[in-house]
Amino acid sequence: MSLWGGRFQDKIDDLMKQLNDSFRFDRRLYAADIRGSVAYAGALSDTGLLTDEECQSIIDGLEQVRQEFNEGSFQEANDEDIHTAVERRLTEIVGPAAGKLHTGRSRNDQVATDLRLWLIEQIGIVQSDLAAVQAALIDKAEGHLDLIMPGYTHLQPAQPVLFSHWLMSVFWAFDRDQERLDDCKRRTAVCPLGSGALSGTPFPIDRTALAAELGMPAISPNSMDAVSDRDFVAEFLFAASLIGIHISRLAEDLIIMSGPGRRFVTLGEQYTTGSSLMPQKRNPDSLELVRGKTGRILGALVGLLTVLKGLPSTYNKDLQEDKEPLFDTADTLAMVLPVLAGVIGSLVPSPDAMRGALDMAMLATDLADYLVDRGVPFREAHHITGHLVRRAEEQGITLDQLPLDVLQAESAVFDADAAAIFDFERAVSRRAAPGGTAPETAREQIAQAHKCLVARNRA
Ligand code: ARG
Repeated sequence: MSLWGGRFQDKIDDLMKQLNDSFRFDRRLYAADIRGSVAYAGALSDTGLLTDEECQSIIDGLEQVRQEFNEGSFQEANDEDIHTAVERRLTEIVGPAAGKLHTGRSRNDQVATDLRLWLIEQIGIVQSDLAAVQAALIDKAEGHLDLIMPGYTHLQPAQPVLFSHWLMSVFWAFDRDQERLDDCKRRTAVCPLGSGALSGTPFPIDRTALAAELGMPAISPNSMDAVSDRDFVAEFLFAASLIGIHISRLAEDLIIMSGPGRRFVTLGEQYTTGSSLMPQKRNPDSLELVRGKTGRILGALVGLLTVLKGLPSTYNKDLQEDKEPLFDTADTLAMVLPVLAGVIGSLVPSPDAMRGALDMAMLATDLADYLVDRGVPFREAHHITGHLVRRAEEQGITLDQLPLDVLQAESAVFDADAAAIFDFERAVSRRAAPGGTAPETAREQIAQAHKCLVARNRA
């Protein structure tokens, strides 16, 4: 049975029905759909459109339908979508009174409401999964504050940094993702119910009370906008895409850092797999999948934006295409983020490998800074140091092995105390301005990060 058969003579074409039906994927909206309908029944009864008894029997019937879905005993009957399925089953349970539930409501405002309710809850799940990844980063950073490794730009060794400073650099990207999700949640929690098909409802429904009943602080201000707006889905997919980009870059870093070139960290065996042919292999598949799964998240965003582009006003069936990319993205994040938190927890850093990769040339900036501290303009200091780097290269020695007279031949400012420059701990500790890699600022960052997570857990 469909919800719209009255004016039709011919039965829907079988293939058309397959194309049109969405129950196979939107059935997961059942809890949101039923929650919306329970609240809507209450709103109808407040206006006198349902008697108290009718309202109660509808609510009881909806509870039974919810129970059937929860238990997995819900019997499908070729239903077009979740809204049709719930109403069909409700009618079987409570009889004709069920037909009053849809008074003044359209599936257009209904589906928009359901999707928002579903997404509000899902955003909470993503946020707590992401917070677990952030907590794993803080934990690792706190546990290894003494480790210095090369920092890279262009994949070229650049300057020494704390391993913890690198870990925390990823934390802050996720913190921005959390803020984006907060923001997205705020705009998702705007209730379209009571907008009807497109022009609003003629019945005196208290939309504000209805929204509050559904935990939404605001109502949509325009019915035509309300039934066509899928910005909240696009925003979530964008926030998810940036999360995808951040986790994909983290995965790539860890693949490189754990790989044969660096071996700065070892991944827990439980997050790696072997090769069916080469017995010696241990591959970072967890990280490759984190990186690879990001592709479908970006695809979902682009797919949805393409559906929305150029749509005429209000509801068009194209909008049914909002759900699969949204569900797939939520499922992907729910699968990937907990694994990533586990991978981070399992990382064992190798101090020897990190130390072994540090090279004195990474202190060339510090050598230039020595001159700057003694009044030489930075540009000139950079030039002088460049010469010295070249000298050392030509002689096949490291920068710290250049004799003092060679330094002094480039600049009379050099003194015996220049030898103190060639110390990685010193170089790291010097970067003590806020945001730098000095251990004390790293500790401050970690304290600040703890506060962010605690505030988030309280909210
Ligand atoms: N299954 C539909 C969707 O997901 C529900 C809304 C149907 N509205 C309509 N006018 N046919 O968008």
